Amino acid sequence: MKQVQGPGPARIGTAPLRAAATGELVVARTRAEFEVARAQLTGQVGVVMTMGALHAGHAELIRHASALCDSVIVTIFLNPLQFGPAEDLASYPRTLDADLLLCAQEGADLVFAPGPDVVYPDGDPGVRIAAGRLGTVLEGRHRPGHFDGVLTVVAKLLHLTHPNLAFFGQKDAQQLLLIRRMVQDLDFDVRVIAVPTVREPDGLARSSRNAYLSALDREVALALSAALRAGQEAAREGGSAVRRAARDVLQAEPLCRVDYLVLTDPNTLEDVPEWHRGPALLAVAARVGTTRLIDNQIVDVGQASA
Ligand code: PAJ
Repeated sequence: MKQVQGPGPARIGTAPLRAAATGELVVARTRAEFEVARAQLTGQVGVVMTMGALHAGHAELIRHASALCDSVIVTIFLNPLQFGPAEDLASYPRTLDADLLLCAQEGADLVFAPGPDVVYPDGDPGVRIAAGRLGTVLEGRHRPGHFDGVLTVVAKLLHLTHPNLAFFGQKDAQQLLLIRRMVQDLDFDVRVIAVPTVREPDGLARSSRNAYLSALDREVALALSAALRAGQEAAREGGSAVRRAARDVLQAEPLCRVDYLVLTDPNTLEDVPEWHRGPALLAVAARVGTTRLIDNQIVDVGQASA
């Protein structure tokens, strides 16, 4: 379904958009506009949630959704609830026109791009989803309250969009795990689909925050993906070798200030013991210049790397 008749959401009809779109992209800014457009969607509905500043990683999510669903909703909402007071909410890149073009090109049917007053009409919600222990380690340790903010908005957007399938990137492995846990623990009626991390040709994981990197930062930032590759290459020799190989790469780049480098159980996020064999999550977070970057790789410990 590509068209909405009658009053309600605006069809984005700028010339470049119309030229690029394969069907017609509907953009809703309010709950009322969204409800009218959502009611027209048929078949299996997929949702891709984003904070905008869309790039090839987001495009891949939309493509996965288009392949598995009859209709695709993209949400674009910069969620204040998941940013700490010293974080980059004010400077986060906002590129709505380009974002809508990308959504149209990738075959999305409906974009929901509400403002904070639409999502949180009564201000910050007093009742929120608590991420629990999994929300206090790794990213959660460095960003207190972050995952409560993420899960609260994801829960709200699942209620508002009521999709059959929801697509999230492996790039944010802890977020993906917590969303899976929320869906299971709180009986949300949706299937969560993980999409592999999209990288630049040189290995850097695509991220909206890459826009902050200077040319030098961009070189330094390659240490993250290089460390993950080194860890993967040492997989056959066991957990200590994986950690050592990854750490050596990061230590060789003093401008890359590491927040954490861990090899954990992908489901509990607890460090894997030395005797561990099988899949483990090798995850890294580091500050490069003023930018904080994260990356991760599933490593098959005790097995030769692919
Ligand atoms: P955002 O950072 O915009 O990411 C939106 C989705 O794109 C997430 O599922 C993220 O994991 C995925 N993604 C980002 N970079 C990717 C890459 N290089 N390869 C594959 N997928 C990638 O994550 C958020 O927004 C927010 O926390 C959100 C879930 C929307 C809640 O506000």
